[in-house]
Amino acid sequence: MEKKNIDWGNLGFSYMETDKRFVSNFKDGAWDEGALISDGNVTMSECACVLQYAQTCFEGLKAYTTEDGHIVTFRPDLNAERMEASAKRLEMPVFPKERFIDAVVQVVAANEAYVPPFGSGATLYLRPYMYGKNAVIGVKPADEFEFRVFCTPVGPYFKGGVKPLTIRVSDFDRAAPNGTGHIKAGLNYAMSLHAIVSAHEEGYDENMYLDPKTRTKVEETGGANFLFVTKDNKVVTPKSGSILPSITRRSLVHVAKEYLGLEAEEREVYLGEVKDFAECGLCGTAAVISPVGKIVDHGREICLPSGMTQMGPVTKKLYDTLTGIQMGRIKAPEGWIKVIK
Ligand code: PLP
Ligand code: COI
Repeated sequence: MEKKNIDWGNLGFSYMETDKRFVSNFKDGAWDEGALISDGNVTMSECACVLQYAQTCFEGLKAYTTEDGHIVTFRPDLNAERMEASAKRLEMPVFPKERFIDAVVQVVAANEAYVPPFGSGATLYLRPYMYGKNAVIGVKPADEFEFRVFCTPVGPYFKGGVKPLTIRVSDFDRAAPNGTGHIKAGLNYAMSLHAIVSAHEEGYDENMYLDPKTRTKVEETGGANFLFVTKDNKVVTPKSGSILPSITRRSLVHVAKEYLGLEAEEREVYLGEVKDFAECGLCGTAAVISPVGKIVDHGREICLPSGMTQMGPVTKKLYDTLTGIQMGRIKAPEGWIKVIK
């Protein structure tokens, strides 16, 4: 398979149209068998539920070329399960797990020419999503839906790759108590757009959102969970009912315990204790682990001891081990790697 002529090493995290995407439609209570199509545009009613009432959810996962030339994805079963939770919370039909995984496989295989080569630093980002498609004007769910998966080759989510980030504590909330913060609803990201634009205008890379009820506890950023390391090398991740259950974070906790012999705990993390941590990172499919060097809380600077030039030592070990598993350099736990080719 001849690869596309793409400058793999200089890709940012942006959309590039690829050859094929998977589409399946839900009508009269059932999903059709779906197909790979070439047209990357979507046509629908001006009154589609997704356009009026944001009835949409999505997922994000990556395909990798391994050191020995295979193409694999990482834990797509967990993306399927999370999308099931999102669909149920948003009154959408579930796209069955086996079919979700099969659609991902089909899209990667059909766009093999866009899968970045091993060692290029780039990956193929997959975006499964679903939306309410038919017209509704009263506030109620659609009854016709479309499930799609497209893919696009990407580089690092944050410019500068693994250069430590500066983030601010946001005055905006991302999720409401008992709301939709724990699912991957498009509306959560609409909520965060003003906050991210104003963070960038003020020179910050991202926002740290606090818990919406008491505004004393660390939640997550707009697109990644937090991971902290204590001065005695314990991994700590925030526990909250209103953050997205990150597959990367859950995998890193396993890696910390089972591969690196570290203690790891998921617990409530107060903003007031962040100054005592040794390292901080943002973890997610897009972010992988992006180190945080400085957190600014209304003018008060919290500088992580790991500094502003490189990843902290524990973060680096977690990063190397996780990416080693994803790229086939390190043996993966049973069931983590889905081989496509
Ligand atoms: N938190 C938010 C709000 C996200 O959008 C993402 C991205 O998917 C994550 C966390 C990380 O989740 P995952 O590791 O499953 O990609
Ligand atoms: C991901 O990491 O897959 C995300 O969805 C984060 C962001 C691009 C929305």
